[in-house]
Amino acid sequence: MRTPWYQRAFQSEYFSLYAHRTQAEADAQVSGLLQSGLLPRESPLLDLCCGAGRHLSAFRSAGLRAWGLDLSSELLRGQHGVVRGDMRVLPFVGARFAAVTSLFTSFGYFESESENVQVLFEIRRVLRDGGVLLLDHVNPKPTIAALVPESREERGGALITSRRRHDERGRRIVKEIEYAKDGLVENWHESVRIYEPDELDALLAMAGLFVERRCADFMGAEFTPACPRQLVRAVKH
Ligand SMILES: C[S@@+](CC[C@H](N)C(=O)[O-])C[C@H]1O[C@@H](n2cnc3c(N)ncnc32)[C@H](O)[C@@H]1O
Repeated sequence: MRTPWYQRAFQSEYFSLYAHRTQAEADAQVSGLLQSGLLPRESPLLDLCCGAGRHLSAFRSAGLRAWGLDLSSELLRGQHGVVRGDMRVLPFVGARFAAVTSLFTSFGYFESESENVQVLFEIRRVLRDGGVLLLDHVNPKPTIAALVPESREERGGALITSRRRHDERGRRIVKEIEYAKDGLVENWHESVRIYEPDELDALLAMAGLFVERRCADFMGAEFTPACPRQLVRAVKH
């Protein structure tokens, strides 16, 4: 069977590809989330698709009891309080968490929409009544308008070429990556389903998660249609 893109894309090269997504950035984001009240100061919290754990460590420094889940054993290596698993089938009992976070575009990965919805049903299942989901995703129109078709940069000794396009039919943003290091060239891609705000609200509501607040950033700035990101706080009723 063909390896799904989301297994190939998040291996050791991720550290140089996304080296600009730092611990300092995550610390500032978590402090913004707590100060703005976007995220309740309640435990336990699950950071879904936690990657290398940069937000997890910030949540813990802020005094929250936080757990992480991710599919990539390479990104999870050396961390504690994390589980390797798939976001479609969460290995937790129901009503376990006060909050679930999905940060830095970690949703909309599956080809079939039913699997993306399944992730939301799973989040709802593991949340307590009144529990909060914080979802950080792309706002489609401004992101598509600003899409850079090709860029090239050197990071961690690798020459990285990224080609980006909007797949209008599939309603996805696709990024093809060429990674050249030590005379070897590797290729893979990322492919993320994008959602207009009203579409995302409807999808969340279908899974029993109701949007209370939509912001432009982690500090709680007001959302406008021109914002490149949407940070959504949804509650389980
Ligand atoms: C864009 S990264 C974000 C990582 C982290 N939230 C951060 O901000 O650094 C997306 C993460 O989702 C994880 N992932 C991809 N597919 C997954 C799946 N099916 N189940 C769980 N995690 C998955 C990847 O391994 C990767 O760590």
